[in-house]
Amino acid sequence: MDFKDKVVIITGAAGGIGKATAKLFANEGAKLTLVDLNKEGLEEVVSELNLSDEDYIIKETDVSKEEQVKEYVDLTLNKFGRIDAFVNNAGIEGKVMPIVETSDALLDLVLGVNVKGVYFGLKHIMPVMMEQKSGNIVNVASVAGFIGSPGMAPYIASKHAVLGINKCAALESASFGIRVNAVCPGPVDNRMMESIQESAAPGHGDEVRKQFERDIPIGRYSTNEEVANLIYYMSSDKSSGITGTAYRIDGGMAAK
Ligand SMILES: NC(=O)c1ccc[n+]([C@@H]2O[C@H](COP(=O)([O-])OP(=O)(O)OC[C@H]3O[C@@H](n4cnc5c(N)ncnc54)[C@H](O)[C@@H]3O)[C@@H](O)[C@H]2O)c1
Repeated sequence: MDFKDKVVIITGAAGGIGKATAKLFANEGAKLTLVDLNKEGLEEVVSELNLSDEDYIIKETDVSKEEQVKEYVDLTLNKFGRIDAFVNNAGIEGKVMPIVETSDALLDLVLGVNVKGVYFGLKHIMPVMMEQKSGNIVNVASVAGFIGSPGMAPYIASKHAVLGINKCAALESASFGIRVNAVCPGPVDNRMMESIQESAAPGHGDEVRKQFERDIPIGRYSTNEEVANLIYYMSSDKSSGITGTAYRIDGGMAAK
């Protein structure tokens, strides 16, 4: 097993992609720190994956609050003593609305979770990996880091920012034997896309989905499991030699 007794932190672990990723790592023997705002969701993941007490930590965390980020890192070090992989995945979609109508509060919320949350995770985990002289980090960005989309400016801005931070983190840590890469999904068949569809056209989410699907060359959304497979690959030694990149998993959407 690739991750036998390796220590992996996953944020947003109660969500669609986070949970599918936790499952893959658990099957490969990893010790897991699962972080999310949604504590009940984390408890459900632990019971669904049938994790043993000695193999996991769950930590209710708002990743946009630096002191809470430090807590999940400290808890991990106290219990497991090291961090081998970090899946910096928690994120929110915000609401679909034009720039001219966006409130300061919505902008702060989306940038707070998606940009500061990612940044604080790196700020507190990179020093641990630098001291170990090893570690793999995956920042979950989005195809929204490559293209624009009307009504999604805060989210689009946040994911472009993640790709910039991703490059800096890779450059600052490469000489310590740490790799940092971004995984960039297009629309995924889960709660977040349902929320975006419904926010774009209340009561007509299914039609919005059809429009999205017409825009995707493979004609469908990705699955949580497909995204998790790429995160797993980028976190494992199978991708040795790759750092500072951003891999899209978008059914060809941004190739046009
Ligand atoms: N679903 C998609 O279509 C899609 C596409 C591209 C990128 N992504 C990205 O994938 C990542 C995972 O999203 P998902 O698709 O699994 O959606 P999701 O909504 O199922 O999962 C996101 C998780 O993050 C958690 N979260 C939200 N705010 C938080 C905070 N402040 N602190 C800690 N946890 C918080 C939520 O509780 C949730 O469990 C996100 O970064 C998202 O932007 C998703």
